Amino acid sequence: MKKAGRFENKVAFVTGVAGEHGMGFAVAKALAEEGASLGIVDVSERVHDRAKDLSAMGYEVMSFAADLTVRKDVEQIAEKMIKAYGRVDVLANVAGMAFFGRDEIFKDVVDLTEEEWDFSININLKSTFNCIKAFLPHMIKNQYGRIVNVSSVTGPLVANPGESPYCAAKAAILGLTRALALEVGKKGILVNAVAPGWIKTGASTEGEIAGGANTALGRPGTPDEVAKLIRFLASDEASYITGQLIVIDGGNIIQEYKGPSELYY
Ligand SMILES: NC(=O)c1ccc[n+]([C@@H]2O[C@H](COP(=O)([O-])OP(=O)(O)OC[C@H]3O[C@@H](n4cnc5c(N)ncnc54)[C@H](O)[C@@H]3O)[C@@H](O)[C@H]2O)c1
Repeated sequence: MKKAGRFENKVAFVTGVAGEHGMGFAVAKALAEEGASLGIVDVSERVHDRAKDLSAMGYEVMSFAADLTVRKDVEQIAEKMIKAYGRVDVLANVAGMAFFGRDEIFKDVVDLTEEEWDFSININLKSTFNCIKAFLPHMIKNQYGRIVNVSSVTGPLVANPGESPYCAAKAAILGLTRALALEVGKKGILVNAVAPGWIKTGASTEGEIAGGANTALGRPGTPDEVAKLIRFLASDEASYITGQLIVIDGGNIIQEYKGPSELYY
């Protein structure tokens, strides 16, 4: 059963959809809720469980288990999507940060190996490039497209020690977003990025949740809140917004005072 809404007759492809409490699943649900037919992908086979969840909600969905850093696999998925639906209107590049079956890398530059650098850059940046490369020609053909890339405040705006490749990749997503927005703006394609702050997902650590408690809003954000922003940027209501990085962080990075807040305000 497809629902009526802003994405009626639209097809969306969402990456990083394995976790029940992750952002990718929230984005897929938010788009389907307003009528989009879906393709979802993750390196984890759990993507098929999320597809079952979405089908049980009455939404139309195809799911793929693949590593988005492997260009030819992404190309094949894009071909299957186009064959099944005839078009892809929305691409939400959510995958990144964590990679199923492998620990996240937290190391200072001095200790980082070349393999670790490449791995993190690839899952956070090349995955986004590969998906754009695969779907962009179809969007250009249709003279319509909405690409929303998930960056982060971490990288383009602030940083943490031990996260240099993640910071570099997330900042590079902003550069990619801007350059691409200029290339395809006159072809009916809008390209934007979102920069979440502390968002509480299934994978959040105690330290991250504490970071969320210290924002202006006094709590971490939810995947649904980020999903609604992505859905807005993917909708026709955002028709004059392109090449932008929209921060969604509960007023975290605007704070000047970095000491314990009880000592100052
Ligand atoms: N949670 C936060 O606080 C936060 C803050 C800022 C940005 N982000 C970004 O939001 C996005 C979603 O994060 P999340 O918190 O929902 O985490 P998550 O771990 O639930 O989602 C990321 C998913 O991407 C998948 N993935 C990673 N590399 C892949 C690859 N090469 N091929 C296929 N799938 C791959 C993972 O398997 C995982 O399921 C990430 O890009 C992350 O960097 C998260």
